[in-house]
Amino acid sequence: MRVWAIANQKGGVGKTTTTLALGRGLAMRGHRVLLVDLDPHASLTRAFGVATDPQPAGVLDLFDEQPPALASLARATEIENLSFIAAQTPLATLERRSATQPGLGLALSNALARGGHAWDFVLFDCPPTLGLLMVNALAAADHVIIPTQTEPLALHGLKGMCRTADMIQRSRHRVLPVSILPTLYDKRTRTGADTLKAMQDEYGERVWNDAIPNDTRICSVDALTRSSPAAQYPGRGLSAYRRALDWLLLTEARDTEQAA
Ligand SMILES: Nc1ncnc2c1ncn2[C@@H]1O[C@H](COP(=O)(O)OP(=O)(O)O)[C@@H](O)[C@H]1O
Ligand SMILES: [Mg+2]
Repeated sequence: MRVWAIANQKGGVGKTTTTLALGRGLAMRGHRVLLVDLDPHASLTRAFGVATDPQPAGVLDLFDEQPPALASLARATEIENLSFIAAQTPLATLERRSATQPGLGLALSNALARGGHAWDFVLFDCPPTLGLLMVNALAAADHVIIPTQTEPLALHGLKGMCRTADMIQRSRHRVLPVSILPTLYDKRTRTGADTLKAMQDEYGERVWNDAIPNDTRICSVDALTRSSPAAQYPGRGLSAYRRALDWLLLTEARDTEQAA
C-alpha cells in the first residue's frame, strides 16, 4: 500500500480535482484505489453523489474511540477498482475534541495499519487548513503531492506547505517526499510562465516540468467520477493528469531506490 496526501494550505488550487484525476488514473491502470475525503466541505464526496445531510458514514467515524473497519466505510464507485470514504461536515469540529481526546493525530495511520492492506493506493484529499486532519494525513503519508496554482501569490502558500511537510517529516523520523504539481496553467499569460519558471528555479526536480492546463472540461464531474465519457473524450486536462501520474510513479520509484 502506498499513501499519497494531496495537500495545500490554500483552497481552490485543484486538490480535489487532482485527487479524483490521479485516483481514477491509478484505478484505470488496474490498481485498487481508495480516496479519502478529509475536507469538511466534502467536495469529493458530493462529486460522487453522496449527500452530506443527513450525515453519511465516513471518515469522522475513524476518530471514534472504537473505530469501525476501514473497509466498512469504503463506497464503491462506477469506476472499477476505485472506492472512496465520505467526509462529514462535523469534521470541522474535530480540532476541539483533540484537546480532550489524546492520540487523535494518529487516527488515520492506525486505521490504515489495521485495514489499509485491501488497497494498493490510498489518496487523501486534504482540507485547506493546517489542523488535525492535515497532520493525520501527513503522518500517514508516503508522499505529499502539492497542487499549486501557477500565479505569484501561490508561491507563498507553496512555501508554507513545504514547511509543514518538513515539520511532520522531522517529528515522525521518516522521509516524506514532496512533489509539486503546477495546476490551472494558462500558457497564454506571461504570469503563468513566469511563475512556473520561479517554481522550477526554487524547487528543482521536486516540481513537475509540465503543468495541468486550465481546461473547463475537467470541471465536469462526469469526466472524473464516471467510467465512460472521459475515456472517449480525454481532453487536455485529463491527458496532462495522465502524464503527471507517470511522473509521480517514476519519482516515487526513484525515491524508493535512493532510500534503499
Ligand atoms: N485544470 C483545471 N482547469 C479548469 N478548472 C479547474 C482545473 N482544476 C480545478 N478546476 C476547478 O477549480 C475549482 C477548484 O478546484 P478544486 O479541485 O476544488 O480545488 P481545491 O480542492 O484545492 O479547493 C473547481 O471549480 C474545479 O472544478
Ligand atoms: Mg477540495
